[in-house]
Amino acid sequence: TRVGVFFGGISVEHEVSVISAVQAMHALDEKLYEAVPVYIAKDRQWYTGEELRDIENYKDLNQLFEKLQKVTVTGGDDGGVVLQKKPVPKFGKRIVAEIDVAFPIVHGTFGEDGVLQGFFELMDIPYVGCDVMSSAVGMDKVIMKQVLRDAQIPVLDDIWFYGTHWSDNPEGITALVEETLEYPVIVKPANLGSSVGISKAGDRDELRMAVEEAMEFASKILVEHMVEDMKEINCSVVGDYEEVEASVLEEVLKTEDILSYQDKYQGGGKGGDGAKGMESTDRVIPAPLDEEQTEDIQQLAKDTFQSLGCSGVSRIDFMIDQASGMIYVNEINTIPGSLSFYLWDPAGKDYTQLTHQLIQMALK
Ligand code: DAL
Ligand code: MG
Repeated sequence: TRVGVFFGGISVEHEVSVISAVQAMHALDEKLYEAVPVYIAKDRQWYTGEELRDIENYKDLNQLFEKLQKVTVTGGDDGGVVLQKKPVPKFGKRIVAEIDVAFPIVHGTFGEDGVLQGFFELMDIPYVGCDVMSSAVGMDKVIMKQVLRDAQIPVLDDIWFYGTHWSDNPEGITALVEETLEYPVIVKPANLGSSVGISKAGDRDELRMAVEEAMEFASKILVEHMVEDMKEINCSVVGDYEEVEASVLEEVLKTEDILSYQDKYQGGGKGGDGAKGMESTDRVIPAPLDEEQTEDIQQLAKDTFQSLGCSGVSRIDFMIDQASGMIYVNEINTIPGSLSFYLWDPAGKDYTQLTHQLIQMALK
């Protein structure tokens, strides 16, 4: 089975995606699968080539691009899917590779939000993971929270608005925030991952600065009550609407108020071929919680996954308010970093088995 691994992408999480995808390509069971890398460069050109399997090659992109083929993905004559050399040559098709199933490992905008999934739908390519709807809902924190509230899954109160509305009436929105929430608050772009554009605001001035910062990244902004003394706990879920399983939990230890991009991805750790993995000293696996809390979170993770209509593997990130003991769903990552393989490993499902399960689900 030829597995097209799509990665890179134009989002701020491009580099994280390269790491996740290179790890996944190495994890694929060689006896069953042939990985066909499809690298979506930041300028939206698509490339393929064996060189894409080695993380070392990404250090010098210009040199890397010289060795690769620019490709487009099209439907084959016999209904299959092919990567074609670009520009399509005048005399006959030049097929670079054919794929049986797509494995999107693109984080964030245009990869994790349903856009790439929509492309696969249109091309009639079976693909791993969430469908268009669940990807899109999972990416938009405002809509996601609305769906979860409806399913009685606990999420923090918030106020949301468009950046243009803020520009028209900053005083009005500030008043609304102050009526509804108490400082400190957290300001987030509605649709980005990896803590990009997120900041804390302790007063009116900081709120303005935080909103202006978030506006650089998204048109839709979310202001949430900030839980000051909190634990961040993550849980991965594999399955679909019929059957799901939850992983062990991880506690993410923080160095600043908000988990920064650096906390998440620059902590060092494992991962083959010099790739920086997701496992590092700032995660505790399994999270040191009692059995009841662990089970509550695992159940909420499964409910979240199913309420949003997800399939494949996701990682659901929770907050525990240490003062009240309340558990809140913070976000879902429908294409989590490293596909959260490190949360399945402790239970005996290694990265090879996880990718096998995901591909088989896509082909079912
Ligand atoms: N959005 C990134 C990749 C994550 O949280 O896993
Ligand atoms: Mg997160």
